[in-house]
Amino acid sequence: MRVGVLTGGGDCPGLNAVIRAIVRTGSAEDGYAFIGFRDGWRGPLEGDTITLDVQAVRGILPRGGTILGSSRTNPLAESASSGGRSGIERIRENLSVLGVDALIAIGGEDTLGVANRLYESGVNVVGVPKTIDNDLSATDYTFGFDTAVNIAMEAIDRLHTTAESHHRALIVEVMGRSAGWIALHAGIAGGANVILIPENPFDIGQVCGWVEHRFQTRYAPIVVVAEGAHPKTSDETVAAEQLDEFGHARLGGVGQMLAGEIERRTGKEARCAVLGHIQRGGTPTAFDRVLATRFGVHAIGAVRDGAFGMMVALRGTSIIRVPLADATSQLKLVPPERYAESEIFFG
Ligand code: F6P
Repeated sequence: MRVGVLTGGGDCPGLNAVIRAIVRTGSAEDGYAFIGFRDGWRGPLEGDTITLDVQAVRGILPRGGTILGSSRTNPLAESASSGGRSGIERIRENLSVLGVDALIAIGGEDTLGVANRLYESGVNVVGVPKTIDNDLSATDYTFGFDTAVNIAMEAIDRLHTTAESHHRALIVEVMGRSAGWIALHAGIAGGANVILIPENPFDIGQVCGWVEHRFQTRYAPIVVVAEGAHPKTSDETVAAEQLDEFGHARLGGVGQMLAGEIERRTGKEARCAVLGHIQRGGTPTAFDRVLATRFGVHAIGAVRDGAFGMMVALRGTSIIRVPLADATSQLKLVPPERYAESEIFFG
């Protein structure tokens, strides 16, 4: 059996741990051979591959990023572009030429959506969920999230001390396009005074009230805001109008907007720190390494059992299989009752 592996979408810590677990398990237990596809769906679309054997995955467990490379290439946007063949047809053809019997796609909502379409067209696909945003509904956690939260928490800890020295408000903008899980967890863990998430449009006047209250207690306020959060009166702040191949705009700027409004309305100095891709880089936490490794081991289990069209997922402490279609049908957003737990500490 020859198994192809690819990583698509935004990278995150733990991808290499999954790749290693897939190759080590499949080689040792099943005698499978592997082929790596470069840069997400671009690899199978263009037949761009790299050697993927036990030697190639030595030492990569703690490494951030992905040895396969990643991209936001969307084969579904390539309908009948090259010689009248759609992206899906081109991938099917390349997989057949390369003798690939099964494909493991590691990715988020967009990558797994393509994986599901490929499965529906007859390709043997297994999915592995990945995103620092932790917004895939079929799994309790995705690897990469815990690392991102810990990076953001450490940043908040550091910002507390400098904010207090200068009696400033510090706004921390974290990732989180549609779901505010990183902001929520990092904000709670870091003792933020206000946490703003995309699911709950905010009132700037109320945010300023919490900021002022915090100054009155002689502490400096820390406001954690997810990049996708927005005021009740307007949409998300977009950093670049151009959409990616999956139709997403690049978000960014809500933190700076808030800092300006807070200064204007409260008269107190406010600065913004944007964590951006720092949250996606570097070595994964122990939690993410373990989860990623388990996902890799169980992805090979799914290939072995012929459980195609399925994705591995974490339910409680168990790794289960769920249909790829379910995995991508709905985003997992922060429920109001979870957000309410954090609101107790605002102001
Ligand atoms: O989906 C993960 C994510 O990190 C989002 O939180 C963020 O909006 C997006 O990727 C950023 O993507 P890129 O690295 O392509 O700018």
